[in-house]
Amino acid sequence: MFHVNVDLTDTSPNNDFTIPIVDLRDKVRRVEVVDKVRGIRGFHEKNGEQRKRFYSRDNEKRVRYFSNGKLFRYMAANWRDNIVFVANSEPPNSAEMPPLCRDIVAEYTKKVRVLGITIFELLSEALGLKPSYFKEMDCAEALYILGQYYPQWPEPELTMGITKHTDCDFMTILLQDMIVGLQILHENQWINVPPVRGALVVTIGDILQLVTNDRFISVYPQVLSKNIGPRISVATFFMNYTISECTSKIYGPIKELLSEENPPVYRDITMKEILTNYYAKGLDGNSYSQPLRL
Ligand code: OGA
Repeated sequence: MFHVNVDLTDTSPNNDFTIPIVDLRDKVRRVEVVDKVRGIRGFHEKNGEQRKRFYSRDNEKRVRYFSNGKLFRYMAANWRDNIVFVANSEPPNSAEMPPLCRDIVAEYTKKVRVLGITIFELLSEALGLKPSYFKEMDCAEALYILGQYYPQWPEPELTMGITKHTDCDFMTILLQDMIVGLQILHENQWINVPPVRGALVVTIGDILQLVTNDRFISVYPQVLSKNIGPRISVATFFMNYTISECTSKIYGPIKELLSEENPPVYRDITMKEILTNYYAKGLDGNSYSQPLRL
């Protein structure tokens, strides 16, 4: 996990454990954090009629609003509301989007994809692969953009914003406002990921772990409920979560990373199978790549 700084005003981390900061200001144009968060917050706080129009529990919809993602399956709710935008080569068309955030989402989709491609290039190079390797694997082809709203909650110890999980994707870029809540599991301890003004949080997902044959390891996040707030975050998952739109392309450990000393530790799998497993499993606290180990 690391922060990428694209709009820097203050880089000082504010707790003992430091999450590395990578400065990409010369590589990407600014992603103005405040405006994006404001657009998502506006939608969540708008009168209920507008939200009702978008409410759906159908995973195939490209724009939808929902609360507890695992309703009816778990005893405890994840205490947050979500608005989702599925962007393939194009963002969802304007008419499908809430007017309040349509321009901001279209612009953000473009910028976050460019940033994602830049990071994938750096990750490819770090593995000794050609820079375009991950892009050519279609890692930045489909984005699932989740605008999350964690309400202020008077008794935060009774619930969680989101319970322990890994992300079932290649990579996640998270834009968070200045309210602390996000934690990651590091050496069996939950560590706060303090918001850094102007920086985005980048984490590895299970599918990148699978294709890199454990060279990159996915992270376990969770989000605490707070008696301050609301907390707003926008998570961009590099991966399509719409089963009908995902390809039957096969993913497995990258051949160039394998050798006699580094044999494959995962089996090959199609995106369709990955997603089918994902929806069947839910957030049970275990990594999605675990059952695919050989
Ligand atoms: C998620 C997630 C973190 C956050 O949606 O999977 O981990 O800070 N979100 O909202």
